[in-house]
Amino acid sequence: EKGNFRHFMAKEMHEQPEVVAHTLAHYLDMANETVQLPDLPFDFASLERVSIAACGTAYYAGLIAKYWFERYARLSVEIDVASEFRYREAPLPANGLAIVISQSGETADTLASLRYAGQEKQHLLAVVNVPTSTIAREAHAVLPTLAGPEIGVASTKAFTCQLATLAALAVAAGRARGVISAEEERRLVHALVEVPRLMNRALDLGPEIEHLARALAKTKDVLYLGRGTSFPLAMEGALKLKEISYIHAEGYAAGELKHGPIALIDENMPVVVIAPHDAVFEKTMSNMQEVAARGGRIILITDETGAKHTALETEATLVLPDMNPFITPLVYAIPIQLLAYHTAVVMGTDVDQPRNLAKSVTVE
Ligand code: M6R
Repeated sequence: EKGNFRHFMAKEMHEQPEVVAHTLAHYLDMANETVQLPDLPFDFASLERVSIAACGTAYYAGLIAKYWFERYARLSVEIDVASEFRYREAPLPANGLAIVISQSGETADTLASLRYAGQEKQHLLAVVNVPTSTIAREAHAVLPTLAGPEIGVASTKAFTCQLATLAALAVAAGRARGVISAEEERRLVHALVEVPRLMNRALDLGPEIEHLARALAKTKDVLYLGRGTSFPLAMEGALKLKEISYIHAEGYAAGELKHGPIALIDENMPVVVIAPHDAVFEKTMSNMQEVAARGGRIILITDETGAKHTALETEATLVLPDMNPFITPLVYAIPIQLLAYHTAVVMGTDVDQPRNLAKSVTVE
C-alpha cells in the first residue's frame, strides 16, 4: 500500500530514517556505541582480501564499502559488477572473503558470482534484503538488510540499508584487525546512530528539490561529480535519474573531469556536485570552478561548512547539516534520490515501473 504517497518510490524514500534505524539497531549496540554482529564463519584479522560482486545500485553500495574497508580496516577490496566478475576468472586468494550484495537475492549474475567464489574456496557472505532468497540460502553467512519489501523498481531504501549494514561490517573489521581503537569505534558508531535524524533533515529538502526538478526536466544530459565515497554516489545519482526520468546522465570522479567530460560543459549542462566538507572538499571545489568557468549550471549538494567555504555562484545549493564524513553517503543519498524522483514526476514517466526494466533481473 502506498499510503498517502503518490508512488511506492516516494513512500520508500520516506521510510528510510525508520528502516535504516531498524537495520542499524540490528548490528549495533546503541547504548554502548559498539558494533555487534552475529557470529561470522571467518576471522577478519586473518583475511587476505575481500572481493565484492553486485549489480546496479547494489554495486554502488559495494563501491562505497570498498572505501570504508580500506580506510577503516586496511583490508584490500576488489570489486566488480557481477556480470564481469562471473566470467573473468579472477584468481582469488586462500582465506579470501567474497561479499555479494543484492536486494532481491535472485539476480542471476550476482548468484553466479557467489557460486564462482564458492568454487574458488572463498568465505561467502551475502548482504540481502529477501532472507528466503536463493543467494541468502547459498551463502555461508547472511547479513540481512531490514528495509522491508521494496516495490519501486528504482532502489532507494534497500540501498541505504545496504550501506548501513556494510558500514557496521567495516567498523567490525577495523576492530578485529586492530586498525581502529575502541574510542574510534565509539565515534564511528555514534555517527551511524545519528543517520536517521540526519536523513529526516535531508527529506526536508523535498520542496526545494521539487522546484529544481522543473528545470532539470528540460535538459537532455546531466553530469554528476564527486570524490571519495561521493564518487560512487555520483554514479548512483546518474543511474537513478536515467532509470526513472529517461534523461541521460553520467556519474564521474570529479578528478576525471579534465580527462574528457569537461568537453561536454556548456550553458545547458547541469552538473550535480556532491561535496560534503570532507578531506577532498577543496579538490572538488576546484573542479567545480572549472565547470563554472565554462558556464556549466551547478547544483551543489554540500553541508553548512561547505556552503560557507565556497564563493562560487551556483544555480542551486542544497545544504545539509555538518556530519562525520564516514556517514555522508547514507545521508546524501536522499537528495540524490529526490532529485531523480521529482524530475521523473515532472516528466510524467511511470516512476514505479519504468519502461524496459524489471525489479528483479533473474536472467542474464
Ligand atoms: O536485487 P538486486 O539488488 O540484486 O538488483 C540489482 C540491480 O538490478 C538493481 O539495483 C537495479 O540497478 C535497480 N533498478 C537500481 O535502482
